[in-house]
Order: sequence, then C-alpha cells, then structure tokens
Amino acid sequence: MRIRFPARLSAVGAFLLTLTLVAKLPPTPTGPALDAAVENLLSQMTLAEKLGQMSQASRQPYVDHIAQTKESIRKGDLGSILNATRREQIDEFQRVAVEESRLKIPLLFGLDVIHGYRTLFPIPLAQSCSWNLELVEKAARIAALEATAEGIRWTFAPMLDLTRDARWGRIAETVGEDPLLASRLGTAMIRGFQGDDLAAPTSMAACGKHFVGYGAAEAGRDYNTTLIPDTELRNFYLPAFKAAKDAGVLTYMSAFNDLNGVPTSANPRTLRKILRGEWGFTGFVVSDWTSIDELIPHGFAADGREAAQKAISAGVDMEMVSPHYRDFGADLLDKNELNPAMIDDAVRRILRVKFQLGLFANPYTDLATARTSKNPLQPEHLHVARQLATESMVLLKNEGALLPLSEKLKSVAVIGPLSDNGDDMRGCWFCESIPSDTVTPLAALSEALKPRAKVLHAAGTKRDIDESTEGFSAAVKAARRADVVVLCLGEGRDLSGEARSRAFLELPGAQEKLFDAVAATGKPIVLVLFSGRPMVFSKQFAKARAVLYAWHPGTMAGPALADLLLGKAVPSGKLTVSFPRTVGQIPVYYNHRNTGRPPQKENVGLPMGTPQDPQGYFSKFIDVHSTPEYPFGHGLSYTTFAYSDLKITQPENAQGSLTATATVKNTGARDGVEVVQLYIRDLVGSVTRPVRELKGFERVQLKAGEQRTVVFSLPTRELGFFNEEGRYIIEAGKFHLWIGGNSEATLRGEFEL
Ligand code: BGC
Repeated sequence: MRIRFPARLSAVGAFLLTLTLVAKLPPTPTGPALDAAVENLLSQMTLAEKLGQMSQASRQPYVDHIAQTKESIRKGDLGSILNATRREQIDEFQRVAVEESRLKIPLLFGLDVIHGYRTLFPIPLAQSCSWNLELVEKAARIAALEATAEGIRWTFAPMLDLTRDARWGRIAETVGEDPLLASRLGTAMIRGFQGDDLAAPTSMAACGKHFVGYGAAEAGRDYNTTLIPDTELRNFYLPAFKAAKDAGVLTYMSAFNDLNGVPTSANPRTLRKILRGEWGFTGFVVSDWTSIDELIPHGFAADGREAAQKAISAGVDMEMVSPHYRDFGADLLDKNELNPAMIDDAVRRILRVKFQLGLFANPYTDLATARTSKNPLQPEHLHVARQLATESMVLLKNEGALLPLSEKLKSVAVIGPLSDNGDDMRGCWFCESIPSDTVTPLAALSEALKPRAKVLHAAGTKRDIDESTEGFSAAVKAARRADVVVLCLGEGRDLSGEARSRAFLELPGAQEKLFDAVAATGKPIVLVLFSGRPMVFSKQFAKARAVLYAWHPGTMAGPALADLLLGKAVPSGKLTVSFPRTVGQIPVYYNHRNTGRPPQKENVGLPMGTPQDPQGYFSKFIDVHSTPEYPFGHGLSYTTFAYSDLKITQPENAQGSLTATATVKNTGARDGVEVVQLYIRDLVGSVTRPVRELKGFERVQLKAGEQRTVVFSLPTRELGFFNEEGRYIIEAGKFHLWIGGNSEATLRGEFEL
C-alpha cells in the first residue's frame, strides 16, 4: 500500500507513519477473495437488510435526530448517509453500524466535495480553464485528504455533464463543453479522489454524475427535459462517463432529467444496457436527491411503489433521500413485480465498493489522517489553491499592455461588490470552507502593493444583485483619486450552481451602472469578472482597458489575482466554453455541425434576396454574428505566441497513430505558458461531423523568444465516431487538422485515412 504524505512530513516521520498504518489495517480482500467475501455476507442478509443497504439518508432529518438515526442504523435500515460532516458524529454512527447492527456492515458517508473541502479550489469550470491535468488531480487529492480526515469516504464528484448553455446555473460545476477535455479532467479528478490505493484511509470513492444528459436541459432551465438523439448522446454526452469507467470510478449518480421521455433515474437503456452491459461497470449507481420520488411528477410512475419498481429494474442501486426502496421493496418482491436477483445485484455492488474502500477492515476515521485536520488551512494546500486559481483565470483583453500593472503606479482603486467579499469568492458547493478563510482581492492587493502604492476602496454596491446606487459616489471618488481602477464585478456565489438558471446573462443589479459611473472618470479600468458562468458584457468590455475572467476562484482568490495583476504570474488560462454574444445565440459551441448553409464569416444583416431568389440565405442571425464572443480555447497572455511548420505523418496502418507537429514560438518579451491545441475535422461522414473537434492539447512553457516543436501522437482509433446504430466506426476519407492557440486556429494541414 502506498500512502501519500503532506510535502512537509519528514522522511522518517513518513516511514514510521506508514509502518503504523500498514500494521494497523487488516488486509482488504481483492479478486476472488473479494467476490467470496461479498457473497458470504449477502447470503446472510435478510431482505430488509438488503433494502437498507440500498437506502441513503441525508443529515435531514437523520443527523438532527440522533437517536432515531442510530436506531435505523442498528436495524440495518441504512447503507449510507450523506451530508454528515463532523468526524465525531460520523464515527459514532459508524460505531453503531459495526458494533450494534446484526451484520456489522459499515456505513458509507458521502458528501459533495466538489472543488475542495475546507481549502477551496476554483469551481470546476474554472479549473478546467487551466487545462492542467496534474494540478487538477492534486487539488482533488488535497480535497480527499481533508474530507477523509473527517470521515467522508465518498464524494459526489466529478460532474461530467457537458452543456452548451450558459443560462444553466450548473455550468459552474462542469469542466467545459468538450468531451475530450472533460474526459481527461474527469479522469484526473477521479485519480485524485480515489488515490493510488482505494483501501487507504485517505482515499474516497468518486462518483461520475449525472448519468446522463442533464446538461442539455431545455433553455438551460435546471431539471428541465432533455431530448438527445442517440448519435449525440454517444459522441458528445457519454464519452466523459466512459472515460470515468475506464479510470476505475467506483460509483455513478443517475440524474434528474427526463431523457427522450424516459427519466434517467429509471432508464434501463442508459443504466443497464450501456453502463453495465456495454461498458461492464461493476460499481454501483446512486440516484440523485429524491430523483426516484420525482418519477411521480415526471409522470413516469403513479406512486412511490411504482417508482421503486422502475428505478430498481432500471439499475439504480441506491436511493438517495426518498424512502421508496425500503417502503415498497418487500411488497414488490412479494407480488412478483421485481426480480429478486436485481436486489441481490444492487446489494452486491454496494458491498463490493465498501470492501474496496477498506471500510470493513477500517471503518473509522483514521486518526493519523484526522490529525492533519487540526490545522485546516495547510500551507501546501493553500499553495496549490493559489496556483490553480492563477492558472484558471482567463485574460480576455489587455489594451496597451495595461497589465501587469506598472510598478510606478502610486495608487490603485479596488472597487466593486466582489472586491472584498470572501463568501462570494467560494462559488457553489463551498463545502466546509468558511468565508473568512478566503483572501479577498482587496486584502491581497493591499498586502502586495504595500508600501509602494496606496490602495483605495469602495464597494459601489454592497452585493452583486443590489439595485441601490447609494454607494456610487464613494466609488467614483476613489476612482478619481487613483491611477488605475481594479473593478471587481460579476455574480456572487448565490447566482450560480443548482437551481440557479438565469435568463439574462448581463451583470446583475446596479453593476452596469456602477461600471458606467466609474468609467466616466476616464481612469483606466481593469475589469475583473467573477462568475460561475459565461456572462454577456460586451459594452463593459469595450470600455475597459483590460478584462480578466476570474470565475469563482476559491480560498486563494485574492493572492492569485494579485499575482496576475502585478505580474508575479503570467496568465495562461484558456476558455473551455464558448462565450455567447447574447442570450439569443445560445446554444453556441465550437464543435457544432456545418449545416447546408454555413454562415459566411462576419455575415450579418438582412439577406439580399427573396425566397424566390435566395441570396445570402445562410444559417445566421440578421442582428448578431453567429460566432461566439470569445471562442473555446481562447485566452491571452502577457506575451504572444506564433505557430508555424505544421507537419503530419500518416499512420502506417489502421491500428497506428498519426503524428502532427508544429513549432510554437514565444514572440513576446516575457516568459509564458501556452496551451497548444490540436483540432481535426472529418470532412465527410456517414453521419455529419463537427466542424472542429479537439483531439489533443499540451501546456508548453516558453521563455521569451524561445521556440519548441510540439509533437502530438493521435491514434487512428480516436478518429472515429458512433454511427446511427450505436456502433463506433472509423471511416476512410479526408481530414483537416489544425494546431494553434484556440478553436479558431488557422495553421491547417490535411491527411487522409
Ligand atoms: C445534486 C447532486 C448532489 C446531490 C447531493 C443534488 O441536488 O443534483 O449533484 O450530489 O444533490 O447533495
């Protein structure tokens, strides 16, 4: 067993701790011994105990009614609890399970550890903009260290839903709009959460969610209906989930959405046929929060009894929060409306995961790890949080190289409702973090500029959604007295995440007016936008001298921002979702199909002709360009990069790989990091193919003036797609290939399969 230690632990300390842990933990069965252990236990279970294992309760009301919870555990009515967070409480519940219940089966404690536990990293969408798999994995590992120290051995992450809709509040939790990027980032997170050894006390089960298609909610309205053709499901929505399976994810969560008329929490096609049948997944599936009960309002089940019957039959192994499995399972079996083998199969899967996590051998919080929670904000954790926040922020504009801010500046005004609000920096799913842990932009800039420049501050409006203009005069006064304004606007944490769909994507509250009032001073503005989603801000963009998209950066928001603004770090983040110019353009995404009448570049306005004499009848808008405001993959640096010498070497056979190389040169005066991206287009297919597809990327560090040849190896098998029969095929024909710094890269080559 390999155990990772905090960087500061001395080698001797680490060795001794390893010995103690290894000595303490009884071995966890694997292979045939694991199967035997599961079967042995299963054979002793009553039906009620089996249904108990298939039931998960939340802290409400369980943790708040301790005696009642303990009684349920004692009776074997619960297999898992979510949202319990205190170690003492968790260990006490666990004690009842393993000492007082008949079969002594340990509980599995789950929590939404989405982008950190106490130390918060940037929200997942922000993390994805780093394109840094290693760092994203590290962040997940740290989250696991902190959460397992409190007894949480299961996280409901990573979220692998793709979306093309910035209105959907949960876009914040996604890792961008591209299946390849989501697959790689999701895999990195799973590695981080699950660690090298599942049975180690610092490992937690990951959960690929929400299976599947939830991000396609109509109009971006959360929980809304999804209609997804099969080719789209397989080519776009499923790959990240398949990658999670290949990475060994232990659990999946079914979703809230109705998929083509069959809710995903009772969908035998996705859960039994694809996930288990085609992919061979051996872990278990948990429902989403009351999503089994919600089969009733969906109009898919008449009552809780039918809901349980349909969900179990479809392959949802554990029911989250609603009690229908427990309440109706026995009756359904009694009346032959449920196959008993399905119950056994579900329980087998759940027990298996508990064995794999080492819970039978070591059910309690490991005290050696618990000790690390004594100092909740460890320097190494904060260091990674700062680095990831820095790499997540995306520079969108830097007119006249306003950034990094000149060392000669004497005064900086830090203005805006998000300039000194630790709470809002946390974003959705802030877990056990506390607002006062967060270093705000104001605090960090004041510290970093001391004593060379004066920092002036005014919020302008107290909160993101405030309509009051009362604070404007103080903000304008501060701006007037300063050499430069850092204007921190956007969405607070409460505007993004679950059940937070927005139909307007402009700056909320009085913030547009605040921007105008500050801009009227004529002072140069660095606009820093905090948000959980792409917003629409073209008017402010035009007037600001520099724009940095900072998302919700987490605990180290301020220091990361200060590092970038003051040039201690150079921006390298690249967008992983296309930004719409206006809500009416949505869905706007880079990997769309071409249509029979593709828009001409910059083509806008009324068509010239008439239906009888069509001229200029293209797939476009008459009042806005069809391209996004900022494309997928886009992001500026303090330096510039140039691409040349694209070369493609054909694979020797269908099993081989093609090699594509290009020279990337840092043509500016500063060292920097470029995310080099490779895109292809399959020109003709038996199913029409996207105009571009990301097939590779690499973060390349280049000193000023330095150049490097970047080499991509692209296996032929990755050039295929799922056809209408659901078969993965690779078709002969011509392809285009681009290497560049975003999805509109122009350095193009061709090859033929
Ligand atoms: C969310 C899930 C989450 C679950 C448990 C649901 O409302 O959709 O993503 O894991 O709650 O908190």
